[in-house]
Amino acid sequence: MKLTSVAPLLTTATIAAAAPFIDPVILPMLPINVFNVTDFYAGSIPHSVWSTTKFSISVTTIQPPTLCTAETQSYQHVGDFTQTNCTEPTVSFTLTRTGQTDQGAELDIFWALGDKGLMKGTYLIPSSQFVASGLGTSVHEDYTGPRDFSVQNVTLVKSIWGN
Ligand SMILES: *[C@@H]1O[C@H](CO)[C@@H](O)[C@H](O)[C@H]1NC(C)=O
Ligand SMILES: *[C@@H]1O[C@H](CO)[C@@H](O)[C@H](O)[C@H]1NC(C)=O
Ligand SMILES: *[C@@H]1O[C@H](CO)[C@@H](O)[C@H](O)[C@H]1NC(C)=O
Repeated sequence: MKLTSVAPLLTTATIAAAAPFIDPVILPMLPINVFNVTDFYAGSIPHSVWSTTKFSISVTTIQPPTLCTAETQSYQHVGDFTQTNCTEPTVSFTLTRTGQTDQGAELDIFWALGDKGLMKGTYLIPSSQFVASGLGTSVHEDYTGPRDFSVQNVTLVKSIWGN
């Protein structure tokens, strides 16, 4: 009676202990279609030519989140962040401002699965969640939307690492 409930727990524990990050071979067994972001921040630094972004992301339910940070040169407003690896280097991201007048942003999360390809999740940030404040040279822009959110649209795409 108890054995039936113990078996799946042992499987999960064995997987988590065996690999610091998930083995692509077991990926098809996992119901991955959502990445979860926590503590998201993006902003430009007053009196500087730099923008920063920082967040944690979970791409599986059985491993701890990985930290993603980057900085980019951009005066007074949040700029575009080119592809940057997170602490767990199979996970990377880009943050791209969208449109000429509608300055929202697209956050793309990539999870490289070796020769199995690449998972990509996309999250759109509306322009209303970027707020400018300050005067003169202290003008800067901050992301003011939810700190925690889900990246819902996760799909399998071709490798971006050129192999
Ligand atoms: C993301 O959060 C949802 C809701 O709490 C949960 O069902 C899902 O398993 C989580 N996914 C990951 C990859 O953490
Ligand atoms: C990012 O990680 C990938 C492996 O997922 C590696 O091939 C690449 O060299 C890394 N890039 C940088 C800039 O560290
Ligand atoms: C999900 O993302 C893909 C590209 O990554 C896009 O073609 C598709 O329209 C998106 N679907 C939704 C519901 O946003």
